[in-house]
Amino acid sequence: MLVDKFDRTVDYLRVSVTERCNFRCQYCMPEKPFSWVPKEKLLSFEELFAFIKVAIDEGVKKIRITGGEPLLREDLDVFIKMIHDYKPDVDLAMTTNAFLLKGAAQRLYDAGLRRLNVSVDSLKPEVAEKIAQKDVLGPVLAGIEEALKVGLKVKVNMVPMKGVNDGEVLDILEYCKERGMVVRFIEYMENVHAHDEVKGLDSEELLSIIGSRYSYEDEGFDGHSPSHYYKLGDGYEFGIIEPHKDDFCKKCNRIRLTAEGQLIPCLYFDEAMSIKDAVKRGDIKMAALILKEVVKNKPEKNRWSDPDGEHSKRAFYETGG
Ligand code: GTP
Ligand code: 5AD
Ligand code: SF4
Repeated sequence: MLVDKFDRTVDYLRVSVTERCNFRCQYCMPEKPFSWVPKEKLLSFEELFAFIKVAIDEGVKKIRITGGEPLLREDLDVFIKMIHDYKPDVDLAMTTNAFLLKGAAQRLYDAGLRRLNVSVDSLKPEVAEKIAQKDVLGPVLAGIEEALKVGLKVKVNMVPMKGVNDGEVLDILEYCKERGMVVRFIEYMENVHAHDEVKGLDSEELLSIIGSRYSYEDEGFDGHSPSHYYKLGDGYEFGIIEPHKDDFCKKCNRIRLTAEGQLIPCLYFDEAMSIKDAVKRGDIKMAALILKEVVKNKPEKNRWSDPDGEHSKRAFYETGG
């Protein structure tokens, strides 16, 4: 079992398979030109899988594939099947922008994937294009329909931003409600890459918008999810992710592996240790030692909740969100 020094059990590993992305979301990607990590520096699926086996043997029960955009990596379904076949009862999920999902959903399901989290920041084509800096809405919505059709359970993430998509909070809630998908509204997490003009809505502002049409009950936190849940009168549940409070950190159960083999103990923090050399040498014992060390040093809480905290130096495309 992996336990940190605050007595939190870590049993959730997020694995980023690439930092590349086909979107350029304003809250995630730099405005200025930048370059990707060269492909040869990324771990191969075999190398990632070698580490995943170590993590599962040490007690990891839930694995989420992330990116960048994970569907940009070829043969992702083969990789998912490798994990599923090793331990079929591992809870396997993926976070995607859904642009390439329509043609991939069935293969992902057949490989053992059961749950998907998808970003939908707007239902207006021109607003979605402004946010992602690409004409994305049609393929994203088609991808979601296909995922639901093949039996994947889909959750939606929205990052509401002032003057951009804050008028669509209720529309997105209703779009999700009609399809039986949970929506989580995420407070924008400041980071050094995002565009300067991005201003997120906080949970009070979100609840006031939702409260203008619905009555809701506070359900609190559900297990180890970062999301604070609320229930509408008809039983529909939605969530708000509030990194500017640190309530979720007390129950945090996750660590992250980047596509380059950096093990990151917290979404905010910049300290990391690499398992790349150990895995390339086939030194499984060393990989397990590094994993335990990173877990041991997991920080107590993120620093978005600290009024004097600096912006995170990492954007989500680098850490896997
Ligand atoms: P499930 O609970 O399994 O649905 O997954 P998830 O919420 O971990 O997955 P997802 O990739 O959809 O993450 C949603 C968002 O939660 C992330 O983009 C972050 O905004 C937030 N989040 C995830 N992990 C952390 C974390 O360790 N710290 C903080 N502050 N926020 C997190
Ligand atoms: N703040 C809040 N949410 C973010 N995401 C990416 N960058 C940020 C940020 N800076 C969200 C995406 C995606 C999820 C994995 O993280 O919208 O849904
Ligand atoms: Fe890509 Fe996700 Fe970042 Fe958007 S938030 S640019 S979809 S990694």
